[in-house]
Amino acid sequence: MTQAWTPSSWQFHPAAQQPEWPDEDELHAAVKTIAGFPPLVFAGEARSLQAALGQVSAGNAFLLQAGDCAESFDDFSANSIREKLRVILQMAVVLTYSMGVPVVKVGRMAGQFAKPRTSPTERIGDVDLPALRGHIVNDLRFDAAARTPAPERLVQAYHQSASTMNLVRAFTKGGFADLARVHAWNQEFVASSPEGRRYERVANEIDRALHFMRACGIDTESNPALGQVDVYTSHEALILGYEEALTRQDTLTGRWYDCSAHMLWIGERTRQLDGAHFELLRGVGNPIGCKVGPTVEATELLAICERLNPARLPGRLTLITRMGASHVEERLRPLLRAVTDAGHPVVWACDPMHGNTFSSANGRKTRDFDDIVSEIAGFVRAHRAEGTWPGGIHVELTGENVTECLGGADKVLDSDLDDRYETMCDPRLNGRQSLDLAFRVAELISGSSV
Ligand code: TRP
Ligand code: MN
Repeated sequence: MTQAWTPSSWQFHPAAQQPEWPDEDELHAAVKTIAGFPPLVFAGEARSLQAALGQVSAGNAFLLQAGDCAESFDDFSANSIREKLRVILQMAVVLTYSMGVPVVKVGRMAGQFAKPRTSPTERIGDVDLPALRGHIVNDLRFDAAARTPAPERLVQAYHQSASTMNLVRAFTKGGFADLARVHAWNQEFVASSPEGRRYERVANEIDRALHFMRACGIDTESNPALGQVDVYTSHEALILGYEEALTRQDTLTGRWYDCSAHMLWIGERTRQLDGAHFELLRGVGNPIGCKVGPTVEATELLAICERLNPARLPGRLTLITRMGASHVEERLRPLLRAVTDAGHPVVWACDPMHGNTFSSANGRKTRDFDDIVSEIAGFVRAHRAEGTWPGGIHVELTGENVTECLGGADKVLDSDLDDRYETMCDPRLNGRQSLDLAFRVAELISGSSV
């Protein structure tokens, strides 16, 4: 029997993947501090995102959700935020231009700090320490002090999210994202490459289109549709005390929203129907994502849809599938059919990253660009076969010129991985690989190339 929902009703459900905080009082003090801080996003913005995602679920728009695997307290600068935004804008332009539909832009940003772990501890030699759970909980360094969960990190995560959000708003509304600047987003190391030159051609065409509009008498300079973008924020809602502290009642509608980000998702490891994560998120008004791995059966997926979106609101629920390149088509098709037959208006997004991770010869955790493209190709084929809309992609990337994923047009090799392997957690696509991917996705979905 389902009990009444409150922002703390999750506490009566089993909560997977929570850190063992050594001091309960410190934890409560930190959570209380955050509960007194202003919300990071407004409920009205979450509703706008839900409306935009409703258009995706209807097949009229495309979702681009992208950013770090895990944000870091150490790598936190205007530079890294700008570079990430820049590559997301470039990808969005390519997708919008070639698909001819609006692209809904959602960053794994401004709050993506927490990581679920397969094992609660990590052993090196004969020392066992708590596993790294992301900078919102503990630090990577392998010593007892760094690995002990520290509640003041929750507060620091709030502050870093607030500054990141502030800069994202400044960049997206203050001129940086103006379509008149399409050329300026092409970073040097990208511009000199094949995908960079391909991007330049799209940018030239957009320039010409803007000229044409101006010649027709349209004021392109002061039109906010051309000069600004909405980039929404999202993260995995993992650490429940933090999420509860930012769950606030909207004064306009009286509804509860998790104001730590516009969109929250439930990860593959916390996808327990009767678990605490479902309980918290079922009660908030934000658009919600749920990761769907290869072991999920149709009946379970329908139960997930029913629990998170009983009212069948378009855009409320995004199913982020991560099947692995080799089985995506056969695994996905029965799920697409079942959800469609049940009348659930979900957004289907493809996470081509998490089902395709492996260890390279020199022991680095990596992913191959070809596997990533091949999972998206299978995803698109499955949707074509079932008559559903391949609504979006969910990818881990950075604007920087890192060497974490193999392949791509510039062929990062096994032996290159050590050059710039900087991720906090999973391997990310670099700027060139990301742009290359946008062109591939555009081809796969619109069947033509630009
Ligand atoms: N506002 C529109 C949009 O978000 C057009 C736009 C302006 C745009 N700047 C952009 C699109 C940068 C992609 C990237 O779609
Ligand atoms: Mn990851």
